[in-house]
Amino acid sequence: MSQGIFITMEGPDGSGKSTQIALLKEYLENEGFDVLITREPGGTKISEAIREIILNKDFTEMSPVTEMLLYASARAQLINEVIGPALEKGQAVISDRFVDSSLVYQGIARGLGVETVYEVNKNAIGKYMPDVTFLLDLPAEVGIARKKGQKELDRMELEGLEFHLSVAQGYRDMAERFPDRIRTIDATKPVDEISSLIKTKVSDILKSA
Ligand code: TYD
Repeated sequence: MSQGIFITMEGPDGSGKSTQIALLKEYLENEGFDVLITREPGGTKISEAIREIILNKDFTEMSPVTEMLLYASARAQLINEVIGPALEKGQAVISDRFVDSSLVYQGIARGLGVETVYEVNKNAIGKYMPDVTFLLDLPAEVGIARKKGQKELDRMELEGLEFHLSVAQGYRDMAERFPDRIRTIDATKPVDEISSLIKTKVSDILKSA
């Protein structure tokens, strides 16, 4: 068992993960934790370089298997270089996306199968599964509309509505499959309400540790 606490934030594009991560960081720091925030794909020099390839909107010919392996590679490096060592030191790690993104985007929306994607990712993550995962659940249309207002869309965000609908549903399936780990939160609620739901759950975990 590692010493720290590992929390992941999941949800469709535009579900408000970054805002909630910043609020949770503040809370955990007040609880005395040294907090590390990271994002996927990315978080190390190598993983950020892989991110550039994955999200490049000119690479429309990328095969689903290539995509799965690139996400897993970026993850393997992040775990090895950053997340694993931080947890061993007792830090709190909050990751903006983790393996559930692969299970949903590549396993379900791309159709590679959840088991296949999990098998590949087992090598990347080793023993480091999150203590808790928050799923910010949002209708696909709302997420995409939010993203469009914010920035130029990347290769994944440029996928059609059908793909994003499948992602939103895929996350709900994943939450049913792992009810002990994944806590679903309605992301259309006000920011402070979402934040207090998250803090309550984390506080329960800390108390029972
Ligand atoms: P990013 O800009 O980080 O999206 P967001 O701000 O919505 O988190 O881009 C990451 C994209 O990659 C996002 O569309 C989800 C997708 N993704 C996968 O398809 N599989 C994965 O394993 C991960 C980590 C992300």
